[in-house]
Amino acid sequence: MSKSKVVLAYSGGLDTSVAIKWLREEYDLDVIAAVVNVGQEENLLMIQRKALTMGAISSLVVDAEAEYVNDFIEPALQGNALYQRKYPLATALARPLIAKKLVDVARENGATAIAHGCTGKGNDQVRFDMTIASLAPDIRIIAPQREWSMNREQEIEYAKEHGIEIPVTSSSPYSVDENIFGRSVEAGNLEDPWNEPPAEVWKWTKNPVSAPEKPDYIEIVFNNGLPNNLNENELSVTEIIKELNQKAGEYGIGRIDMIEDRIVGIKSREVYESPAAMVLIEAHRALEALTLPREVLDFKYLVEDALGTQIYEGKWFSPLRHALSAFVADTQKVVEGTIRVKLHNSNCTVVGRKSSSSLYDTGLATYDADDKFEHASAEGFIDLFGLPTRIWAQKHKGKK
Ligand code: ARG
Repeated sequence: MSKSKVVLAYSGGLDTSVAIKWLREEYDLDVIAAVVNVGQEENLLMIQRKALTMGAISSLVVDAEAEYVNDFIEPALQGNALYQRKYPLATALARPLIAKKLVDVARENGATAIAHGCTGKGNDQVRFDMTIASLAPDIRIIAPQREWSMNREQEIEYAKEHGIEIPVTSSSPYSVDENIFGRSVEAGNLEDPWNEPPAEVWKWTKNPVSAPEKPDYIEIVFNNGLPNNLNENELSVTEIIKELNQKAGEYGIGRIDMIEDRIVGIKSREVYESPAAMVLIEAHRALEALTLPREVLDFKYLVEDALGTQIYEGKWFSPLRHALSAFVADTQKVVEGTIRVKLHNSNCTVVGRKSSSSLYDTGLATYDADDKFEHASAEGFIDLFGLPTRIWAQKHKGKK
């Protein structure tokens, strides 16, 4: 009789390589390795082949880059989604999609379980498990790292004992995750929050001191809150992200170093590189400032914070995330126009904006002779606008 099957989210690293053997030994399962392409700059075919040499019965690459950009990054961009107002959520956004793809692979192959290499104290286990459990409640989730009590050295020992070739990447002290929207790096000497990130952690961004001296001016056109043109070239969102990662990375833009609050309750230190995300959010905000009324902007900030938290907490498929995105989408209909951004040592600055939906009225804003603003109306306006504050002041005169 053939064994039951498990789909393993395979990365090519030490943990998931050891997991292939371990799943067979501990659970007597045949392992189907799956790597999901979300635009990570890695040789996925090599990873796919490696899984077979590690003992997987089959191994596949699932291409999800377009779906990732269209269905996940785009709503995040329209919502200027950041966690704790800093992190553009690259890792967090991709997890629910990867989980969804793992479920698809499990269904197609009649697998009864899904395994992943996440540890028991990270965010990614929460995102994977919650998504899998809601999409496929019957599927068993196995997280070897939560079960085995091996540390890194013991894993290497286990690999040696079982004839598993130790992946070269395991010599790095850092834990890295990447996809088209950003790169996340933790562990190693970053664990001491006092340590400045060493040069070796950065891969997508140049050291700002060696950035080109001449600034680069770029023009991004948005339609429905999404970029569709860069420097007068009609491009897809995917192409724009790739190009901006490159361009802004040259100037050292998009480096983020933060202490964040994990879902499981601990604080951790992580550094990120997300050049395109940071430029696009900055430009998008500038266009919203021009085209959306103040009360929509103010309310949208609340929605954006909530959206960022939902995404971080792995609740992409939750009703609240869905409703928040619906609000955001409704606001974006008028968010169209062109933003001019200056890239210069580690900064991106919006220096120009125009839109046919612009609410900016020069006639109202100007101090010149052609001023149309009704100055005399201001007096009555201020009288009523300040009324509650005046009443309060009268009532509590002299009190602190
Ligand atoms: N802290 C980030 C998040 O929770 C990234 C997690 C993965 N990071 C890593 N270096 N493996 O979204």
